[in-house]
Order: sequence, then C-alpha cells, then structure tokens
Amino acid sequence: MVREGIYVDATFGRGGHTRRLLEMLGSGSRVVAVDRDPEAIRAGEFLAAEDSRLQVLHGKFSELDRLLEGLQISQVQGVLMDLGASSPQLDDARRGFSFRHDAPLDMRMDTSTGQSAAEWLNDASEQEISRILREYGEERYARRIAAAIVAARPVRTTTELAALVSRAQPRSTPGKHDATRAFQAIRMQVNQELPELHAGLLAAFGVLRPGGRLAVISFHSLEDRVVKRFFRDRSRPPQLPRRLPVRDAANQATARIVAGPLQPGESEVRANPRARSALLRVLEKAA
Ligand SMILES: C[S@@+](CC[C@H](N)C(=O)[O-])C[C@H]1O[C@@H](n2cnc3c(N)ncnc32)[C@H](O)[C@@H]1O
Repeated sequence: MVREGIYVDATFGRGGHTRRLLEMLGSGSRVVAVDRDPEAIRAGEFLAAEDSRLQVLHGKFSELDRLLEGLQISQVQGVLMDLGASSPQLDDARRGFSFRHDAPLDMRMDTSTGQSAAEWLNDASEQEISRILREYGEERYARRIAAAIVAARPVRTTTELAALVSRAQPRSTPGKHDATRAFQAIRMQVNQELPELHAGLLAAFGVLRPGGRLAVISFHSLEDRVVKRFFRDRSRPPQLPRRLPVRDAANQATARIVAGPLQPGESEVRANPRARSALLRVLEKAA
C-alpha cells in the first residue's frame, strides 16, 4: 500500500531513514529532513536534487515548529528521531568525538556554532565538569577525573583527554574503554543533548496532526528515560482531583503508546553493531 502525507526525519544523518520513507511514500508526499550537522545537510542536498519530494533543512529539532513554518507546514503525519551521534561523526577523526583517533577535541554536531569540547573543558569549573561526568556519564570517578583535567589544562586533543581519564581511574571496567563514559558525558554537554531532547519531543508532538505518530530511537538509558516519561505522560489521562466537574474531553489522554520499547533483532545487530543498544518507542497523537 502506498502511503501519502508529510513526514519529518528530524535526524537525517546520512539519510538511511529518509530513503526508506521516500520508498514507502507516494508521489504526492513530502519528506522534510532536518539535521544540525552541516555535513549531513550537504549529503542531504544530493538526495534532494534527485527527489523533489525531499527538502533538507539545517537546524535543531527543538526548533522544528519554526523550521516547518518556513515551509508553510503547520502539521505533519509523522516525525522520526534517531538520537545521538551518527556513524560519520563518530568515525571521522577530524570531528574529535572518539578516543580511538587522535584529533582536536571538538565533538560539536553543529560545527558552525557553539563551544567545542576543548573550549568547554578549559573553561568550566572543576565542580561543573565533575557534575557533568556524573550526571551524563554515570561516571563514579567523576571527581577524580575532573580534578585531573583541571590540573592538566589546557586539554586540546582526544588522546590527551583519554589518557587523563584512564590515569585518574583506579580500576577499569571489563569490556569498556576507561574513557567511554567521560566521552559520552562531554559530548552530551557540548551538544546539550538532553535539553534538546526535551524540547525536541515537545516540538515534534506539537506539529503532529491528530492521529499522527512520533517514533523515537534512543541509545542509552538517560535518553530512553526522557522519551519513556514523555510518552507515558501523554498517554495517561491528566490526574485531576476526584469529583471535579470536568467534561470528558478534559479527562482524556492526548496520545496512546503504539509500540515499544522495541529492540533490534539479531541479524540487524550483526549488520550494524552500533544498533545493539537501540530502543524504539512510538506514540500516536489522539485523533
Ligand atoms: C544517529 S544519527 C541519525 C542517522 C540517520 N537515521 C541515518 O539513517 O543516517 C543522529 C543524527 O542526528 C543529528 N542530531 C542530533 N541531535 C540533533 C538535534 N538536536 N537537532 C537536529 N539534529 C540532531 C546528528 O547530527 C546526527 O546526524
């Protein structure tokens, strides 16, 4: 069955999901693809040149309503958010996301604006660095690592940071590089990933038409917690005091959960090992 409608891929990356959407949609449909990374947008423009149903926009998904307004779109049938960093961001040494490659410590998804990881680390207080490592990395040696970073400033490269983090930890976690949690935390801070996610979910839900669906793929428990809570809050009737004389409509949920949490199957993980921790949840706005 060919579907029609306006759909948003709020995290274009290199367009795997956008291509699949375009395959499934009919000639009267539109796909709006958004990404905050200028390199993703450059890749998207090639695809848009081949398919007139696609429009590619540079920006943050927290600004989705404003971005769509610019295209005179007020409501859409579906929004897809595939969170986190893309494989090209993680694998391109120059982007400074990975402790596996020696590079300037950047980690910005949007390289056209904001502070790089090195700028943030060399500027923030020890307490702030420690809090971010604890909250976003669930790093139990956060205080020791923050103290080591502050003592060694300026920190400029991924390998300098990875070595500092390793030395500050008294014990390693089997199977995990010592710097995994710290790198995740600093990336989340530099890109303001959790505040973006809160605002992005609100913006996406706001532009859905009645009966429209929001699908979100998260990659770790901090993200999934935010998504799960957001979906749960909208799928429950508001908690009003009993015996309050309210109309039925005011007492109804604004959405229902239609799927999730769904994990990838074995063959998908074999083909794409980075998918192993992915969780998909889908919410449908009340009709
Ligand atoms: C996991 S990748 C998406 C991969 C994509 N589904 C594909 O098939 O190639 C996540 C993408 O979302 C982008 N991104 C992350 N946070 C964003 C935000 N707040 N607003 C817009 N784009 C964001 C990143 O720059 C990255 O390109």
